[in-house]
Amino acid sequence: MMKRILVGLLAATAMAAAGGAWAEEPVKVGLILPMTGGQASTGKQIDAAVRLYMQQHGDTVAGRKIEIILKDDATVPDNTKRLAQELIVNDKVNFIAGFGITPSALAAAPLATEAKVPEIVMAAGTSIITERSPYIARTSFTLAQSSVIIADWAAKNGIKKVVTLVSDYAPGADAQNSFKERFTAAGGQVVEELKVPLASPDFSPVLQRAADAKPDALFVFVPAGQGGTFAKQYSERGLDKAGIKLIGPGDVTDDDILNNMGDSMIGTVTAHFYSATHPSAMNKDFVAAYKKLMNGQRPGFMAVGGYDGIHLIYEALKKTGGKTDGDALIAAMKGMKWESPRGPISIDPDTRDIIQNIYVRRVEKVGGELYNVEFATVEAVKDPIKAAKK
Ligand code: PHB
Repeated sequence: MMKRILVGLLAATAMAAAGGAWAEEPVKVGLILPMTGGQASTGKQIDAAVRLYMQQHGDTVAGRKIEIILKDDATVPDNTKRLAQELIVNDKVNFIAGFGITPSALAAAPLATEAKVPEIVMAAGTSIITERSPYIARTSFTLAQSSVIIADWAAKNGIKKVVTLVSDYAPGADAQNSFKERFTAAGGQVVEELKVPLASPDFSPVLQRAADAKPDALFVFVPAGQGGTFAKQYSERGLDKAGIKLIGPGDVTDDDILNNMGDSMIGTVTAHFYSATHPSAMNKDFVAAYKKLMNGQRPGFMAVGGYDGIHLIYEALKKTGGKTDGDALIAAMKGMKWESPRGPISIDPDTRDIIQNIYVRRVEKVGGELYNVEFATVEAVKDPIKAAKK
């Protein structure tokens, strides 16, 4: 009898040592996304990219199964907060991830701190977010990263007078302020600063004011998914033919919708971290696999934030040997470097924010489709707003 128990115990130990996942609970990731509401295109892209990554890399890491619990916050930050609370308290998730807009990422931050649960920001782009909790790491971008680069490009390319037009919330303010500071320091002039509401914006009145100011360029930031509405009103007002160059961070020409925005977008110059036509082998494979999963739909930059976000979770778990202690996971993420479909990236060990290349791109027709064609690269860009605080 005793011998049989001993043999049984030995067998169990051997199985566990061999990495048998049977004894362990799954690692739970609460993925909170806007699957409906104004930013639904962001939710759709990130959800797809996470599923793609898991198809390609399997659903077991360091002997532990990964379970994704997807929740739709409908682009409402109060929902994000309630869902994060429920996921942490009831589902006992080991990570919260996603966050389609800045107010959602901010709403969850105190909960991440209190529960010591890593919050992986895959979409939102306001600088301040990563400062709101030591448990936040970001795989998306900051608006300032792109806005200062397009300011440099504009100043060097004969643009002197600019009107800015941004979505009236935190990332819009970051985009506008970081552009203006850099552009005016280089001798440029911002002659008018226009804003539109985040929800259901009507661009017509502001576009009229922009046209009346007769600037050399219109700098525009609208969040992912809104570029289509913007482009329609932009060409209806004839701004594409008024000799005003369209510039900005690349959110407005999101690959997810760019090809349907019409030829009035051709010649638009933006700075951004991802183009579906980024010329790397890894990106070609990523685009092909994403299209296969999504009925031919092209991945946009939000998809890449999601793909890298789940990669960060996998790699952190590998480093901790499957342990889910929040402090150990965040420590594992700091300084991590890898190749993304966007190019080389890393997590800044000081700020937990992303360091990445920013590419200057021009909308062109390639093989009958509109693409953001990269023509210049600024390597390893840190968030300029946080860098300036140092
Ligand atoms: C944000 O809310 O932080 C946000 C959303 C979409 C973008 C950029 C920023 O394209």
